[in-house]
Amino acid sequence: MTVPRIEVHEDAASLATEVAGELLTRLTSVQQTGRVPQIALTGGSIAEAVHREVARLSPGSGLDWSQVVVWWGDERFVAADSSERNAVQARTAFLDAVPVDPGNVHEVPSTAHAGSVADAATAYEQAIREHGAGVFDVVMLGVGPDGHVASLFPGSPALDVDDRIAVGVTHSPKPPPERVSLTLPALNRTRATWLLVSGDEKADAVAAALGGADVHDTPAAGVSGQDETVWFLDRAAASAL
Ligand code: 6PG
Repeated sequence: MTVPRIEVHEDAASLATEVAGELLTRLTSVQQTGRVPQIALTGGSIAEAVHREVARLSPGSGLDWSQVVVWWGDERFVAADSSERNAVQARTAFLDAVPVDPGNVHEVPSTAHAGSVADAATAYEQAIREHGAGVFDVVMLGVGPDGHVASLFPGSPALDVDDRIAVGVTHSPKPPPERVSLTLPALNRTRATWLLVSGDEKADAVAAALGGADVHDTPAAGVSGQDETVWFLDRAAASAL
């Protein structure tokens, strides 16, 4: 595990601007080394704010979007066009606004393309085996007030799965109830892990994760990048540190 770095920003808006700028810089510098960067997106409100800033800052960044591969760390198992889908949110916020190659955008199957959440997880796992690079460049994760990351919730048996890339999650405490999530070992196959957290309702979870809580109580304690783990916080989310 890498030692986490903590960056505190004034509020959610400045945090989103900073993360979006760092993402564009990171992806561009990976391309300059001759590799095609692979990223994993997440869902939730701070992710959406970051995505909107990516769209705004992208022109002039020098990033060749046709050479970026996009995945999700988790997805809600709902209809393909549901506004609850993380992919729909990301498309609306930025993917439709940048010249990404649709063949490089790997969505988790929706209810239109998989008969069950377990089948969706299996198909997504297969897609990662076929089109993944073995390691992500950046995995972005929101954190819930209960300390969840992706769709790995406190007390869930999914936290102990170490022989799968993706799992189906049922009875999620955060609606909608059915989701597909990367497992902890899969989330941690990344050069950089960026946790994006805003709001004082997350402050205790942030403090617990950074204080070395058990992963079964605070799943965010279990994620780490191979080169860096960065907690991007606003002042409210950092208030219990
Ligand atoms: C989801 C997520 C989830 C999210 C956190 C934080 O699809 O619901 O991927 O893990 O990132 O719950 O969400 P907020 O930023 O909205 O609090």
